[in-house]
Amino acid sequence: MTTIEKELSGTTALVTGSTSGIGKATAATLARLGATVVVTGRNPERGAQVVKEIESEGGSARFIAADLNDPKQIAHLAEEAGDVDILVNNAGHSWFGPTADLDASGFDGLFTANVRSAYLLTAALAPAMAARGHGSIVNLDSMAGAVGLAGGAAYSASKASLSALTRAWAAEFSPSGVRVNAVRPGPVYSDGASAELIDNLASTTLLGRGAQPQEIADVIAFLSTPRAQYVTGASIAVDGGRTAV
Ligand SMILES: NC(=O)c1ccc[n+]([C@@H]2O[C@H](COP(=O)([O-])OP(=O)(O)OC[C@H]3O[C@@H](n4cnc5c(N)ncnc54)[C@H](OP(=O)(O)O)[C@@H]3O)[C@@H](O)[C@H]2O)c1
Repeated sequence: MTTIEKELSGTTALVTGSTSGIGKATAATLARLGATVVVTGRNPERGAQVVKEIESEGGSARFIAADLNDPKQIAHLAEEAGDVDILVNNAGHSWFGPTADLDASGFDGLFTANVRSAYLLTAALAPAMAARGHGSIVNLDSMAGAVGLAGGAAYSASKASLSALTRAWAAEFSPSGVRVNAVRPGPVYSDGASAELIDNLASTTLLGRGAQPQEIADVIAFLSTPRAQYVTGASIAVDGGRTAV
């Protein structure tokens, strides 16, 4: 192994929503770089499978179950994870449809899962990172947070919040050595996304295709390494050029 291949040796990474899709690919990628990974989600069977796959490649991982809609389970996750050097706030879900069709509980559900969960977990972990003088936090925004998509109003607002949190947390924690960045994926063929929706959005990108989870995971992993040591407060588009024009 070269130095770059194992550049995250000795670190612990917590990736929310790592039982599926982008989070799962990110957990595996960070493990390949040498991080010990805390895999988390609500589904223990899929969590165990992700851990098994990481271990089968020689990596190190463990699963902690948590429903991030529940503040008590977030506190428990943070406590069980111990010292975390790399936090990836990836868990979340989307909803697309006419604005008038989303009721108050659906709206609250988007903000609870996509925004409050990241807020509370970061609140639980970032101060200790700052006290240790180093750390990396990556938040999952979306291209939907940057351009107007008909039917995506509430989801887009929840995702744009992640980039707002990124800037504020960079201001709060980066003077203490903790870098905070966001990635803004375009359409990604993941387990939780409808292939038809992704196909439609894919045709609107400059590259004319949707992404695979690994293509997003590689950017998240790069932001988590010392190679990105001068990058903080940034939102990086990984969207086939969709938001460039
Ligand atoms: N796919 C896309 O096109 C796309 C584009 C832009 C941005 N994104 C963003 O990227 C992130 C990952 O998307 P994805 O497509 O990879 O999603 P996915 O395949 O549906 O996976 C979502 C993950 O989040 C976890 N999760 C959801 N709600 C949770 C909760 N309340 N508590 C704990 N875990 C929860 C799920 O775990 P369990 O099922 O085990 O609970 C699962 O591991 C999301 O934030 C999404 O908004 C996706």
